[in-house]
Amino acid sequence: MTGNEIREKFLEYFERHDHRRVHSSPLLPANDPTLLFTNAGMNQFKDVFLGDEKRDYKRAVSSQKCIRAGGKHNDLDEVGKTARHHTFFEMLGNFSFGDYFKKEAITYAWDFLVNELKIDETRLWFSVFEGDDEVGPDDEARSFWEAVGAKPDRILGYGRKDNFWQMGDTGPCGPCSEIHYYMGENPEDPVKNHPKWVNGEGDTMMEIWNLVFMQYNRTLEPDDTFKLTPLPAPSVDTGMGLERITAVMQHVKTNYDTDLIKPIVEFAASLGTR
Ligand code: ALA
Repeated sequence: MTGNEIREKFLEYFERHDHRRVHSSPLLPANDPTLLFTNAGMNQFKDVFLGDEKRDYKRAVSSQKCIRAGGKHNDLDEVGKTARHHTFFEMLGNFSFGDYFKKEAITYAWDFLVNELKIDETRLWFSVFEGDDEVGPDDEARSFWEAVGAKPDRILGYGRKDNFWQMGDTGPCGPCSEIHYYMGENPEDPVKNHPKWVNGEGDTMMEIWNLVFMQYNRTLEPDDTFKLTPLPAPSVDTGMGLERITAVMQHVKTNYDTDLIKPIVEFAASLGTR
């Protein structure tokens, strides 16, 4: 499958499940002084999550152009060192605005990866928020992963750094659940296809999809502290790197070897020989 076919398959899958197909928004966000560049698919829906804007749909799907070269989500220091980070990439995402929540988000993600893309589930690992002083553990997400068929020992708990997503210092946020993919040769290798590589060093394990359960608005208070206030309605924001899922589907080791990026690298290299 080409990268373009994977993008279309994702958009078409969620359209089939009653999501409105929405264009990527511009890389320069309109009306949002908290962001220099668009850094996630949810940016264009920020006011919808906050309840300040109404649309004539409650579910959306998009492939969003993103730049992560500064600010809260800055991948610049990783570019060139890993097989999977870019300053510019496309994020596939499905969104619910006060419609479905954790159960459906997890069920759709499993169904799309395992049944539509036919990804080997013995290569998949799932992470959930284990809770902290401010927000409790996400036992619901864990039980929904088990309900769709994930093995309990493949569902791992992590803290705020890995499993609580916020757009910036302020704005909509919530606990998240990530799907990681084992990139090695043999899924039966007990050393490499092992939880210690999830959120660990190197490219053995790659995060492919992040499901954010949007529940709070994070605001800066007059006394310079941050406060979490529940959103008007629990919502869903997901993001899957198109270049990453394409590397998985094309069985290549780096995003640079996918048909989305390789032709660009080859063209640039050919300029040097002209
Ligand atoms: N907004 C979430 C992310 O960027 C999905 O990871």
